[in-house]
Amino acid sequence: MSISIKSQSEIALMREAGKILAKVHEQLGKELKPGMTTWEINRIGEELIRSYGCIPSFLNYNGYPASICVSVNDEVVHGIPSKKRRIQEGDIVSLDAGVIYKGYHSDAARTHAIGEVSPEAAKLIQVTRECFFEGIKYAKAGCHLHEISAAVGAYAEKFGYGVVRDLVGHGIGTHLHEDPQIPNFKQRMRGPKLRAGMTLAIEPMINIGTWEVAWLDDDWTVVTDDGSLSAHYENTVLITDGEPEILSLI
Ligand code: MF3
Ligand code: CO
Repeated sequence: MSISIKSQSEIALMREAGKILAKVHEQLGKELKPGMTTWEINRIGEELIRSYGCIPSFLNYNGYPASICVSVNDEVVHGIPSKKRRIQEGDIVSLDAGVIYKGYHSDAARTHAIGEVSPEAAKLIQVTRECFFEGIKYAKAGCHLHEISAAVGAYAEKFGYGVVRDLVGHGIGTHLHEDPQIPNFKQRMRGPKLRAGMTLAIEPMINIGTWEVAWLDDDWTVVTDDGSLSAHYENTVLITDGEPEILSLI
């Protein structure tokens, strides 16, 4: 396994890729309305990405047929946008997107509440976001990768939530998925030592109920085994000697 260290010029491009994706998420989040189809969300997202001169990295990735993953309620990740699927008041909708800017990738996800949602759903969204921030307390040079994993998992488990184990975060750079894999729960070993210049996509996927998931027949959509709600929060992060730089947040 080898984890790439980005040069200053590569970091500048990663920063730009991240900043653009942050704007895409901010703008796309504001477009969400009850009654719209998940395909419409994808269409607007793709247009936003292209309006910044970027390429949507998910489109055709391993055959994935859209630019934005739209995952509703018990769908964990990789929901396929559909002209037949309408979001409704009370739903929680996870949007995952990636862009390529001058050959460099960023990857980020947000879970949105559509109108008023149950207190349980709102809490899940908030805690999933907090899991990310717990994790990145250890995202600095000299720490070990799995300190991030353990911190994310421990925080989610305090609330009795299920931490998805079958999907992980990842390194990112000239490819969407690079080494290392970044699990969201405690590992037996401490993992590689983090160094300045590494860029990581850290992405807790948290369920109200069991951690166990299943794949739908479309071979993409991941759902919770027990039908409970799931949330996702992801950012592309730069490791430095000090505090991590969250590239995909403005
Ligand atoms: N954001 C996802 C990840 O972090 C990638 C989506 S896979 C795709 O792994 F096929 F939908 F692009
Ligand atoms: Co990712």
